[in-house]
Parts: sequence; C-alpha cells; structure tokens
Amino acid sequence: MHLTFLLTVPTFFLPCIASTANHYLTLTAVTSDASSHAVLECWRFLTPFSSYPTTGISLPLANTSNTTYVVLPPRSAEGLHKPPHPMLFVLLSGLAHVTFPFNDQELWIQGGTEGGLIVANDVEGIGHFTEYPSEEESVALQLPFRDGIVLDHEVVGKGACSRNIQKYESERPGSGGEKQEVLRALSSG
Ligand SMILES: *[C@@H]1O[C@H](CO)[C@@H](O)[C@H](O)[C@H]1NC(C)=O
Ligand SMILES: *[C@@H]1O[C@H](CO)[C@@H](O)[C@H](O)[C@H]1NC(C)=O
Repeated sequence: MHLTFLLTVPTFFLPCIASTANHYLTLTAVTSDASSHAVLECWRFLTPFSSYPTTGISLPLANTSNTTYVVLPPRSAEGLHKPPHPMLFVLLSGLAHVTFPFNDQELWIQGGTEGGLIVANDVEGIGHFTEYPSEEESVALQLPFRDGIVLDHEVVGKGACSRNIQKYESERPGSGGEKQEVLRALSSG
C-alpha cells in the first residue's frame, strides 16, 4: 500500500513522507519462550507511524482495559512473578531492573523516558524478577491488552531493544541480589 503510494507522489514530497511511512515502533518485550521460560525480545510493530493531525507522528498502539496505577517503594523488589495478562507496562518515574531465573539477560527500565514503555507478555511459566533500586518511589501504569490480544509484531532481535540495555551503575548498589538469594535458596533445596 505505502510503496504504491510512494511511487505515485512527486519526488519532492518523498523525504517528508518517507520519514513517517518507514518509521516503525520497536519495544522491548518480556515474553515466554517455547520452554515457558521468560526471555527478552525486541519487537517491531507492523503499523507504521503516520502524521499526527497537529504536529509529529503517531500510531494506534493497542486497545487496553483495566488500567492500574502502581506505586513501588524505594529499593524494593517484587520477587519472582509473572503478569496475569499480557500488558503494556509504563514506568512513569523511578527505575526498574528485570532479571530472569533461566538466563543472564537484564532489562533496565528508566522511568519517564522512551525506554519506560515495555510489553510484559511472559504469562507462561514462573516469570521474572523485578527490582526497583532507585532511592525514590517508582510509579508505573499497567495497561492490559483488551481480551488479552497482543498486537501484531515481528521479533527483530533476541534481548532488549538498545534503549533498554544501558546500565545505571550509580543507582544499582545491591541490585540483582534478590535473584542471587532466590537461586541460592532453590539450589540448596
Ligand atoms: C481497537 O478496537 C477497535 C474496535 O474494535 C478496532 O477498530 C481498532 O483497530 C483497535 N485498535 C487497535 C490498535 O488494536
Ligand atoms: C483489574 O486489575 C486489578 C489488578 O490487577 C485486578 O485486581 C482486578 O480484578 C481487575 N479488574 C477487572 C475488572 O479485570
């Protein structure tokens, strides 16, 4: 569709149109692999951005239901858990560090940044660990997909999208300790 359109417009419009039509959203997803183990993937959504009526670009992202606002205390941990439903997770403020029981992947979610939006889709298996290592409260929105329907996407890579790979060394004293404790307890029976 877009290709046909591009080929029929005068060339002087091309740079402008290309900048929206070829622009797709990628988001880091915490998802379940074939063994029901939580893993990270980088997803690209299939609907391209288009021009927003006032200024900028937008795309329809999801129908959601039962939005929940969550406040996490400073230096807290949720333990091993999984989302009850596939959802978008938005960290409005603070910092989240996600680790995994069956691999050494790491996900850093910095509140109030583009990397603050991820997909939580590891509804199979035992889930993942989440710690909130910040000295401040972390505030999140959970936006479950309506009827549990996850948006159409393609997997562009194993592991997190690049914007979630950065480490926050100064804010992570003791971070990751919870996973180590739980794994020690499991292995000692
Ligand atoms: C949201 O739901 C409406 C009505 O069912 C549908 O037309 C639309 O495509 C949905 N939007 C997304 C982003 O899934
Ligand atoms: C909405 O989400 C909350 C928290 O996950 C849950 O306790 C509640 O049952 C949900 N309500 C509906 C109508 O799904």
